[in-house]
Amino acid sequence: MSIEEQRARFLEDGYLIVPNALAPGELAPIREAARAAEARWRADLSLPGVRRHDLEQVLGIMEHDPVLFDLIEHPRIFPLVRELLGPDVMMLDHDYFMTPPGAEIPHGWHFDFNMPAVDHPRSLLMVKVFYVLEDIPEDGGATLVLPGSHRTPLEPEMPNAEAPEDLPGAVRMALPAGSAYLITGRTYHSAGNNRSDRYRHLLIYTYGHKWMRMWDEYRPSAALAAQARTPMRQQLLGLTDPYGPAVDDPVPPLFPTVETPRGASPSEAPAAPQRSLGTNGAAAGDAPRGVSTVGRTFAETGYLVIENALTSEELAAVRQAADEAEARWRADLSLPGTRIPEFLEIEGIMRYAPILADLAEHPRIFPLIREILGPDISIIDHAYYITPPGGMLDGDAWHTDVRTRVRGVWHAGSTMMVRAMIALEDIGEDGGATLILPGTHRQPDDTPIPRVAVPEEMPGAVRLTCRAGTAYFFHGNVVHSPGTNQGTATRRVLLYNYGHKWMRMWKGHEPTEEMIAQATTPMRRQLLGLTPPYRD
Ligand SMILES: [Fe+2]
Ligand SMILES: [Fe+2]
Repeated sequence: MSIEEQRARFLEDGYLIVPNALAPGELAPIREAARAAEARWRADLSLPGVRRHDLEQVLGIMEHDPVLFDLIEHPRIFPLVRELLGPDVMMLDHDYFMTPPGAEIPHGWHFDFNMPAVDHPRSLLMVKVFYVLEDIPEDGGATLVLPGSHRTPLEPEMPNAEAPEDLPGAVRMALPAGSAYLITGRTYHSAGNNRSDRYRHLLIYTYGHKWMRMWDEYRPSAALAAQARTPMRQQLLGLTDPYGPAVDDPVPPLFPTVETPRGASPSEAPAAPQRSLGTNGAAAGDAPRGVSTVGRTFAETGYLVIENALTSEELAAVRQAADEAEARWRADLSLPGTRIPEFLEIEGIMRYAPILADLAEHPRIFPLIREILGPDISIIDHAYYITPPGGMLDGDAWHTDVRTRVRGVWHAGSTMMVRAMIALEDIGEDGGATLILPGTHRQPDDTPIPRVAVPEEMPGAVRLTCRAGTAYFFHGNVVHSPGTNQGTATRRVLLYNYGHKWMRMWKGHEPTEEMIAQATTPMRRQLLGLTPPYRD
């Protein structure tokens, strides 16, 4: 079968069997390396893994032998995996699975990947490759899969069975040594009961996208990382920028470049009416309005404005902290960010002061975003944007934050990111207000973004003019653009971009030791990526 045929079959069925994936000459050294790893792991209880009567699992199997490391790019399997997941493919997990004779797996059917934010039937987040090292007989605990189940949307009830083999429609991976089989992270599957007299031996290599966190707490050792000599191998080990370009596939930058003035004056499109949650003159500390209204409004438009999100006292304190951060950042060129005359971005703004870290959980903003993203909410990046007057933006500045950066997901049906902006100065009509195209977050992913000469000319655009202390946030897939600051005041906005805890943080935005020490609540720890990505 050609790669195209294999791909089509896999996408149709949710699984694929590759006979003779490992040639006999390859199988012997792989088996030997796995056996040696097993012996080392049995002798050293500090080595990570699962040690149960019904399952033994050596974690991080690639660490044990170069042969097992090279299997990550096996020439018969990896090209297909890359084809399926795309150029941003990354390793999520790798282990050696040993199922002892007698292992019983009652009600074992499950999805590996069940994240509610994702439109599963049209997304592909994980490809799991199983290499069979010893023949698996019919009663030898073979993996069972339910064909087509990867297209199941989120549902509370899936059929299960006391004996996994009894589920109608199940297909059994009872295969000879050297075979490989692949499933998606959304394929409903179970281990079988091992009623044979022998161990089942599998190597499992799980691939995802480089914007995803690795399974549990695995990080490649320094020794393994040093062996990653090609760009692809480095990407596979999670050593590259999670949201930057993938190997051999440069994508446009997320933040459009600001051009120097070129004399052309953007037309003044009339601002469309804003949808606003807050009310002018709301008392300090008033709770935002009912969350269901918020959810409905946001679901429709993809954005929301909260006027007076910060009280005047909060605004003054935040502004002071932001000013101090700016002074420090300007004085120290080693601090990360963008430094061009028309646009300054201080990256990792939560690092600069506890009040700027606390703002990520502001009581008038955070609960709404948490409702939209779900309880697995986390921080992806955080920054301070300073836009002096005088820059000129190209019409190509219109974009969505997730389409090119968070691949594998059908964004029209998923909610991967919500970006919150807090204005520290009034932003008027010509002050470079963020421009939004309402409702575009639910457009099919291949919908082209209309081309305009300057951002303000986009038909239907809403200009998010606002007073200092306003917060607004938008869906990562909504089509938006920075505006051109033609006013006299510098635009000052704090940015907090939220995603899910199983997504990696933006490079360079990881928490400092100080922030970790100050993260005393479970939610703060989760926001900073300090909790397990895939377990509760
Ligand atoms: Fe599983
Ligand atoms: Fe953006």
